[in-house]
This record gives sequence, C-alpha cells and structure tokens, in this order.
Amino acid sequence: MRVVSGIKPTGNLHLGNYLGAIRQWVVMQDDVAAKGGESLFFIADLHGLTEWIAPEELAGHTIEMAAALIAAGIDPARSILFNQARVPQHSELSWLLNNVARVGWLNRMTQFKDKAGKNREGASVGLYDYPVLMAADVLLYNATHVPVGEDQKQHLELTRDIATKFNQDYRRELFVLPEPMVSTEAPRVMSLRDPGAKMSKSNPSEQARVNLIDDDDTIAAKFRKAKSDADVLPDSVAGLADRPEARNLVTIYAALSGSTPDAVLAEFAGQGFGAFKPALADLAVATLGPIRDRMLRLLDDRAEVGRLLEAGAERARALAAPLLLDVQRTMGL
Ligand code: ADP
Ligand code: NA
Repeated sequence: MRVVSGIKPTGNLHLGNYLGAIRQWVVMQDDVAAKGGESLFFIADLHGLTEWIAPEELAGHTIEMAAALIAAGIDPARSILFNQARVPQHSELSWLLNNVARVGWLNRMTQFKDKAGKNREGASVGLYDYPVLMAADVLLYNATHVPVGEDQKQHLELTRDIATKFNQDYRRELFVLPEPMVSTEAPRVMSLRDPGAKMSKSNPSEQARVNLIDDDDTIAAKFRKAKSDADVLPDSVAGLADRPEARNLVTIYAALSGSTPDAVLAEFAGQGFGAFKPALADLAVATLGPIRDRMLRLLDDRAEVGRLLEAGAERARALAAPLLLDVQRTMGL
C-alpha cells in the first residue's frame, strides 16, 4: 500500500485548514502505517502557480504549510514529506502524460469551469492542465491509494483513464491504477461570526477565524465571544437542525476532542452556552496551543524547515527517477 497526497500551499492557516485538511493527513499517516503502508505527502507548489501568486508569498506559504504539518504530527522520518517543485519528475511526467490525455477529457473537468469562471480565455494553460499534473503526481510513485474529497473524484477518474490509455497504447502494464481512499469525513468549519460562511483566511472579521498562530488568550476569547443562541443544547444532532451557530460549535468541539457531535451532546445536553463555550475554549487552547508552539519554533528557523523538505525530496526523487526513466524508454525517449 502506497498513499500519495498533495496539499496546495496556503498562508494564514486557521482552524478550518487544520480540522479540514492538515489533521486529516495526520490521521491518514497513522492509518496507513498501521496497515504496513507508506505515505508520501507533498506541498503542491507547482499547482500553486496556476493562479497568480507573488513569488515571496508562494515560498513563504510552502514553508508555513510544512511547519504546520510537522507541528500537527506529520513525521518526516515516517512519511516522505516534500514540496513538488524539488522533484522535477512531476513536471517531466506531466509533459509526457499531456500526450496521452485528450482535450475532450480535460474539457469535461468541472473544477476548471468553476475556477476559470467566465474568463476561460484568460485562464492560464496550467489551470486547464492541472488535472494532468495531478495524474503525474500519483502515477509517478505507483500510488495504490489516493485520498479524495468529493471535488477531486473526477480528477482521480481522469488519472485512471490516463493510466489505462498509456498501458494500452504502449502494451505494457506500467502504471498501477490508484484506488480512491475513503477517509473519514472532514468537518466543515464555519465562521464564528456568520455560520452561513466557511471559516476562511478571507473572512471579513478577524473574530470569525481562529488562526493557528493565535495565542492562548486570543483563541479562548474568540470562542467565548463566538456567536451562539440562548437555548440549551439538545441531546442529539437532530436538535441542532435550525441552529447553525450551535451546530458549528458542537462540530468543532467534537473534532478537537476526536469525538462525535452526538457524544458531545450526550455530555452537554441541557446546558447553555454559558457553560459550553468556556469548555470549548479550554479544549481549543489545550489542543491548538502545543501545535502553535511547535509551529512557531519551526518557523524561527525557516531554513531548517527547508532542509527537512529537501531531505524528503531526496527520498521522493529516488522513487520517482527509475519510474520516469522506464516511462521515457517505453515511449522511445
Ligand atoms: P481558505 O478557505 O482559507 O482560502 P484554502 O482554500 O486555502 O483555505 O484551503 C486549504 C485546505 O483547507 C483545503 O483542503 C480546504 O478544504 C481546507 N479548508 C479550508 N477552509 C476550511 C473550513 N472552513 N473547513 C474545513 N476545511 C477547510
Ligand atoms: Na479557499
């Protein structure tokens, strides 16, 4: 079993990024290791180029994402953690697979349509070709399993189509067809001010978002002042149907405690937010505080984080190079 997963470098990391993405990787790393498998995690800086970003910002986000991942529990000794650009075989295989993928296949990708919006003519070729780079990312390592969220299912299907066509065209079973890995549902964390909006780096209010670098008092204050309602908590999630603020806070409590919303409600049923919010604030400080401390310590020496990524890239290149050579030879290069 070999699992390959990438994450785009993004800055101003917040609780939504942690519970929705970063922590999912930590859980995955442990699950895969328990099954005797191997994990490769990369920061998708090449994918980061598909929409304009200033160079210093992209470089900073890559290091910050790496620091957050390591602080949250990705172990660069157990998993192969690297940034994509340092393994040139990703780009090289992507070019080779461009000649296997069909324009008609890419034209069907809904994510391109969503991201390009009305300005399709003005979108970068990279944004259009993004799914082929994704195919290269996983085929390069003969990944057996790829974790996919709902929005990436179509891209994994495309990866399998590209691998199948390659194997047929060149009459060799060179590429392994990766299977989707159903991971535990990532919670969707909503704004603490407006539960109709996702918690995001672009929330209009700073109070809407708990940043991974917030200090303990700030974390606690944001939860104590989070929008809520005047009712007591019900004894099951069915009772939260029309209470989006309450549902969000219970979801966050469950995710931070590694529990379920129903289990949280079993504990707090009948209590109001005067009791629940301080408990949530304490839990958040206890969980996020140590991660923040580790992350800030790592970011004190950004060059060292860069060296950890480089060590991962070296291991990734060792896996990728023979496969790329095999593909080249197979294609007559
Ligand atoms: P933002 O929404 O702040 O711009 P990104 O779009 O850069 O964050 O997201 C990076 C990763 O974090 C993605 O995998 C995304 O699904 C996850 N993520 C971002 N915001 C949330 C959220 N509020 N709840 C759950 N996951 C989130
Ligand atoms: Na976003």
